[in-house]
Amino acid sequence: MEIIVLPTADVAVRAAAIVTEALGNARAGEAKASGTLGLATGSSPLGLYRELARAQGSGQLDLTRVHGFALDEYVGLPDGHPQSYREVLTREVCGPVGLDPANLHVPDGSGNRLDELVAAAAAYEDSIQELGGIDVQILGIGSNGHIGFNEPGSSLSSRTRVKRLSDRTRLDNARFFARPEDVPTHSVTQGLGTILEAQALVLVATGLAKAAAVAAAVEGPLTASCPASVLQWHARAWVVVDEAAATGLRNREYYAEAAAGLDG
Ligand code: F6R
Repeated sequence: MEIIVLPTADVAVRAAAIVTEALGNARAGEAKASGTLGLATGSSPLGLYRELARAQGSGQLDLTRVHGFALDEYVGLPDGHPQSYREVLTREVCGPVGLDPANLHVPDGSGNRLDELVAAAAAYEDSIQELGGIDVQILGIGSNGHIGFNEPGSSLSSRTRVKRLSDRTRLDNARFFARPEDVPTHSVTQGLGTILEAQALVLVATGLAKAAAVAAAVEGPLTASCPASVLQWHARAWVVVDEAAATGLRNREYYAEAAAGLDG
């Protein structure tokens, strides 16, 4: 795991550079490399997506053949709801970064019955496998340490499934909805086991509100109580945070030295 602490303005730039390089390397040897990118929603990756869009605009990056896989989707939002993650990703990612909406995969949260949602979750796992797995997974972190909607207590080997949102998460996400009670109670989310199978993980976090979660994820024990701590188990994981989100880290000096490489 590599922990990179930067001024806020540099977080998105560095995270986008890591994503671009990891994506480029992922299938470089394949004749018809297309690549798969795991997409988080929420506020944290927006700057990173803007950077990818800038790179696309200037011809440094071409995502037109890349497939995007959402981390999660709310259950029960009507088709076309502006806060459904399919809509959010179509609006904020596909257009700007040049990802073909036909190549956007999002778990289907439209089922009314549990068996429909369970089937949708299994189909989502299959769709990831069919394209050879996820090359690079972009992640944010919830203030309670969740990634995707894997709330505290999630099995470390969980697969895509229906997950109830915690009160904390619903409160945090109320800013996207007209009223707090409009925030859905459930989601279909990639599991922690699913996320761990991505070739590379890039987590971005900014702001003091994320400091405790970042410290628990990076320097706490590997535990279901802090789902983001599974990054410690992954061989190619980057955690890119700003100074405020790094406030709780004890080993910052070492991370800075390590990030400087052999010249440091
Ligand atoms: C959403 C997701 C969540 C968010 C997390 C942080 O797809 O995966 O884990 O990344 O809730 O959200 P923000 O970035 O809005 O603070």
